[in-house]
Amino acid sequence: MTSTHQNPAAAPAHVARIRTFHPRRGRMSDRQRDALTRLWPAYGLEIADLDGRCDPVALFGRPAPLVLEIGSGMGDATAAMAAADPDRHYLAVEVHTPGIANLLDLVQRHGLDNVRVARGDALDLVRALPEGSLDAVHAFFPDPWPKARHHKRRLIQPAHVALLRSRLAPGGTLHCATDWAEYAESMRETLTADPELVDPHDGFAPRPAHRPVTKFERRALTADRPIFDLIHHRRP
Ligand SMILES: C[S@@+](CC[C@H](N)C(=O)[O-])C[C@H]1O[C@@H](n2cnc3c(N)ncnc32)[C@H](O)[C@@H]1O
Repeated sequence: MTSTHQNPAAAPAHVARIRTFHPRRGRMSDRQRDALTRLWPAYGLEIADLDGRCDPVALFGRPAPLVLEIGSGMGDATAAMAAADPDRHYLAVEVHTPGIANLLDLVQRHGLDNVRVARGDALDLVRALPEGSLDAVHAFFPDPWPKARHHKRRLIQPAHVALLRSRLAPGGTLHCATDWAEYAESMRETLTADPELVDPHDGFAPRPAHRPVTKFERRALTADRPIFDLIHHRRP
C-alpha cells in the first residue's frame, strides 16, 4: 500500500479509513450487466488503479470544462445533465456497481460522449485530480448519516470541503443538495465557514432548473420533506 510519505496525494491513513458510503449489494439487470461488460473498458475508471494521479484530459481524450458528480447513484441526473450540457465533460463517481452499470446503459442509450464513470471512493479520486481542474462539483443527496456518532462519515464536512474546493478552478461551483434539514444546516455552516468559498445566495439557493429530479428527491417530496440547494463558488 502507498504511504503518504511516498505519495503526498494519498490520504492520511486515519482519514482514508472513514467511509462516507454504506457497503451495499444490489442485483444487476441483464441490461445493466451487458452495459457494464461492453462499455466499462471505454468509459470506466477504477480509482484503485490510479496510483494517486488522474489526468482528466487523457481520460476524455480532449480538454473541456469538467463537472465531477459525487455519488451518482443510478446515474439518471448525470446522464440528463450531460445530455443537456454537451460542451462540458461529466465525471461520475460511485461505489455501487449496479448504479455504475445503469449509468453506462444510459450513456449508450443517449449516445453521450462527454461522460466517464469512476468506481471507488470519490475522495481518493478528488485527491488524484490536479488542483483547479474542475469547473463544478455536484454532491446531490449525499448519504445524510443522521446519527451523531456517524456525522464524521458525512461527505460535506470541513476537511472534505477544503479538498473539493482546492480542485475547483477559480470561480468554479460547489453545488450540494439534500432533503435532510439538519444536514442542510450543517452544510450551510461548513460551506459558509470556508474562507475561499463565496455564496451569492447568502444561504440556501433557489432550486436550479438544470438539476434533474432523482428517485431520492421524489421520495423526499412524497414524504413532504423540503429540498435544500447550496451553491457556492471558489473565490475568483
Ligand atoms: C443517497 S445516494 C444519492 C444518489 C444520487 N446522487 C441521487 O440523487 O439519486 C448517495 C450515493 O452516494 C454514493 N457515495 C457516498 N459516498 C461516496 C464516495 N465517497 N464515493 C463514491 N460514491 C459515494 C453512495 O454509494 C450512494 O449511491
